Formats: sequence, structure tokens, C-alpha cells
Amino acid sequence: MKKILLSGIQPTGRAHIGNYFGAMKQFVELQNSLKYQCYFMIADYHGLNFVQNAEEMKDNISNLALDYVAIGLDSEKSVIFKQSDVPAHTELAWIFDTITTMPYLTRAHAFKDAELKNKEISVGTFNYPMLMAADILLYNTDIVPVGQDQKQHIEIARDTAEKFNRIFGETFKIPEALIIKNVAVVPGTDGRKMSKSYGNTIPLFAEDQEIEKCVMSIVTDSGSGLPENVYNIHKLFRPEAELIKIYADKAGKYKALKDILIEDIKTFISPIRERRNQLEKNKDSISEILKKGGEKAKSKTETKLLEIKKKIGVY
Ligand code: ADP
Ligand code: TRP
Repeated sequence: MKKILLSGIQPTGRAHIGNYFGAMKQFVELQNSLKYQCYFMIADYHGLNFVQNAEEMKDNISNLALDYVAIGLDSEKSVIFKQSDVPAHTELAWIFDTITTMPYLTRAHAFKDAELKNKEISVGTFNYPMLMAADILLYNTDIVPVGQDQKQHIEIARDTAEKFNRIFGETFKIPEALIIKNVAVVPGTDGRKMSKSYGNTIPLFAEDQEIEKCVMSIVTDSGSGLPENVYNIHKLFRPEAELIKIYADKAGKYKALKDILIEDIKTFISPIRERRNQLEKNKDSISEILKKGGEKAKSKTETKLLEIKKKIGVY
């Protein structure tokens, strides 16, 4: 029996190189290792906390599905699906809500951040980790490849599985996060974590001009001589042994270093962008992938949900 792998991304905007190196690249490598039964999800109900416009949501979903296929996710090898197509996710999230306390969830980063900023958060955002726990636990998942920022969410899923098992008897497998150390947090053009919400991204499928613009905007005043932000992004695209030499040869020449980075990013992006452009001409096949994936995922969850319902006594 193969181990089970599940991960997801929210359809909340254009994928960036932080998403790619932090998570998506691992999706493809792990899928191709053929060691796992893989589930790759578009977390649209999570995304609904941020995107509340039907047209935008629709576009984001089909764009993310295109991204998945363009980077090499393959519906012959993996189940590629949309969270909202599998009702068991929200059903199980509710069941988890009933065994989880408010104080426990107030310790989650997303909630604490919102509180610090004095933001009023939705109940959906507050409960976000419960839906994510349901996503993961429904499939008896062994590993969850993600970036560092998702570590706490996986810990919450583990705690929730243990708590349920304690109350109702052994039901859920305890999942492990898979976080690749040197790309756990990809920096953005301003040196903070690259994130859609900070406007500091380099989009994964950026056009050449956009790549130039993004790289030129990378903040360089590091003080130490080495333009750290440029270097830290550059090391995603070229081995450090080569980079050390280049950055020594061109010490202080920020424009020249940025030009090399631009070329390296273009070399990396252009083939996947080309593939994505080709795929985009046949959007129906992408919808078909999601539809079939949704059916497969749904049938997988039905047995598990039945087991859960028996355990809690509603069946
Ligand atoms: P964003 O912060 O841009 O909204 P998401 O929350 O959609 O990104 O993240 C999708 C996946 O990409 C998650 O597994 C997350 O950990 C990973 N990820 C996002 N930003 C980064 C980053 N800067 N470095 C490493 N991984 C990241
Ligand atoms: N919370 C994740 C993010 O922001 C997305 C996500 C939702 C997810 N459900 C998941 C990731 C289940 C891994 C497993 O990136």
C-alpha cells in the first residue's frame, strides 16, 4: 500500500515563486517518485475567506488548475480536485468544531495576527484550521508538503486527530508536515516572506517584462556589501557554488547582478509559461480534470465519513 500525500493551495491570486519553491515543486517531485498516492487540492472554501466575488473566484480556480498542470501535476498519477466538490470536508470540519475549544483556536497565528492588527475576523477565518484538519485527515494522509507558514496548521490537524481518537476511539492517522529546510521561507522583493498579501511577489508565470520589473524592484540596501535580498532569491535558480563566485566578481555592481538574476529567472520560467499558454487553449480539458478528480476524491471520502459517523453515533 502506498503512503498518502495531500496538499492544497488557495485560489486567492497568482501563484508566485515562493509558492513554487516552498511547496509546488515538491508536489511534482513527490508525485513523480511514485511512492505516494497523491491528492492535490484547490482550497476554494478556504479562499472564500478572502475572495468574495464569483467571477474572480472562478478565474482564480481555473488559473490555479492550469498552474498545477503546467508545472507537471498529472491527473493520471494524482487526484487533482477542488475542495468544494467534496462535501465531506465541510461536514468533518463541523464535527471537529464541536471537539475544539475557542481558546485553543485563538492561539493560531492567523487569529493572533488579525487580533494584533485589531482586525475583525470572520468565523470562517477563525475556523480555518478546522477545515484544513478535515482536508488532511479525511484521506488518512501520511504527509503534507507545505511551506513553513503552514506548520502550525498541520500541528493543529495532528492535535485534532489525537483528540478525536481519544474521545471516540482510534479513527485518524496522525499526519506529518514535509517542509524543505532551505526553501521553507522564500523571501519577497522587499526581503519579507514572499506573499500575495504583501505585494512583494515574483509571479511564477510572469512575462519577461514583468520579471524585469520585479527584479529591479528588489530592495538592495543591505549594508553588508552583499545584496542579500537579490542573493537569497538568486539561490533558488542557481547553485550557491556558482553564485558565490559571481557575487564576488561583481561585488557592489547591483545592476549587473540583477541582470544575471533576470536572465536566470527567464530561463526557468519560459518553458513552463509556454506550456501553460498551450494548456490555456484547451480550458475544457482542465475542467474535465477537476471534475474527474472531484469524483474520485468524493468516493474516497465516503467510506471514511461513514466510519466517522458511526464513531460519533449519528449513523
Ligand atoms: P500566500 O502567502 O502568497 O497567500 P499561500 O498561503 O497560498 O501563499 O501558500 C500556498 C503554499 O505555498 C503553502 O504551502 C505555503 O506554505 C507556500 N508558501 C507561500 N509563500 C511562501 C514563501 N514565501 N516561502 C515558502 N513557501 C511559501
Ligand atoms: N492553508 C493552506 C495555505 O494557505 C492551504 C490548504 C488548505 C492546505 N487545506 C490544506 C494545505 C490541506 C495543505 C493541506 O497554503
